[in-house]
Amino acid sequence: MLKGKVALVTGGSRGIGAAVAEKLASLGAEVAVIYSGNEEKAEAVCERCRTLGVRAAAYRCDVADFEAVKGTVAKVKEEFGTIHILVNNAGITRDGLVLSMKEEDFDGVLDVNLKGAFNMIRHCSGIFLRNRFGRIINISSVSGMIGNPGQVNYSASKAGLIGMTKSVAKELAPRGITCNAVAPGFIRTDMTGELSAADNKLLSAIPLGRMGQAEEVAEAVAFLAASAYITGEVIRVDGGIAM
Ligand code: NAI
Repeated sequence: MLKGKVALVTGGSRGIGAAVAEKLASLGAEVAVIYSGNEEKAEAVCERCRTLGVRAAAYRCDVADFEAVKGTVAKVKEEFGTIHILVNNAGITRDGLVLSMKEEDFDGVLDVNLKGAFNMIRHCSGIFLRNRFGRIINISSVSGMIGNPGQVNYSASKAGLIGMTKSVAKELAPRGITCNAVAPGFIRTDMTGELSAADNKLLSAIPLGRMGQAEEVAEAVAFLAASAYITGEVIRVDGGIAM
């Protein structure tokens, strides 16, 4: 389904990003995995993609760094020839109550989650425009749709991503480029690894009665990567928690 396409996935070394990289590879896409710290894990994801019969390579890059992203996108283009699919998945949390949240924790989350996606879109869009083809998929969160106590920074960044998705979708639609968002609920990854018995009340509020799997988010990303007539949309993958 995605044979001949080149996908760039940020935060692809683990969790949802790793599942997305492997799902796109399973559909035939070549994959550039962007990671911030763990080279070994990023390489392992690439190796699993290669066993699916596609090219894959890992690139270390802090998505919050405008110049670093510029350099990395240029390198991926040079090595893969072009880029067709961009998945902005890299994200962090630094939870805390608004009353006591540190300025650096607000800025840090916005820098990675929101500006990071901007940096990537900014540097990939020239390639998409020349190709008259592009699929941008931003990983938002239900926290950005319905809010979550203790996450003013995170939910602001994820709501911002939804606004950015719609503006980019309108701006680039005339050139055959789509931009959509996926909003996961509670997905079992390192990010939610600290959810404990104390959070059982939260988990029992999920209509489908369980946390989601990273692969279930990857399914939605793959669907959007293959869709030509959906743009500016937000797809929740949340067991119904935000309906
Ligand atoms: P994770 O913490 O397991 O993985 C995050 C990935 O982003 C890691 O590979 C990390 O290296 C990378 N990353 C972090 N900062 C980076 C930076 N500055 N530059 C480049 N890469 C960076 O998280 P998970 O759960 O896989 O989340 C992936 C995305 O899904 C995030 O954007 C997260 O906000 C979002 N999400 C996750 C949910 C969940 O329940 N796990 C729910 C809703 C949204």
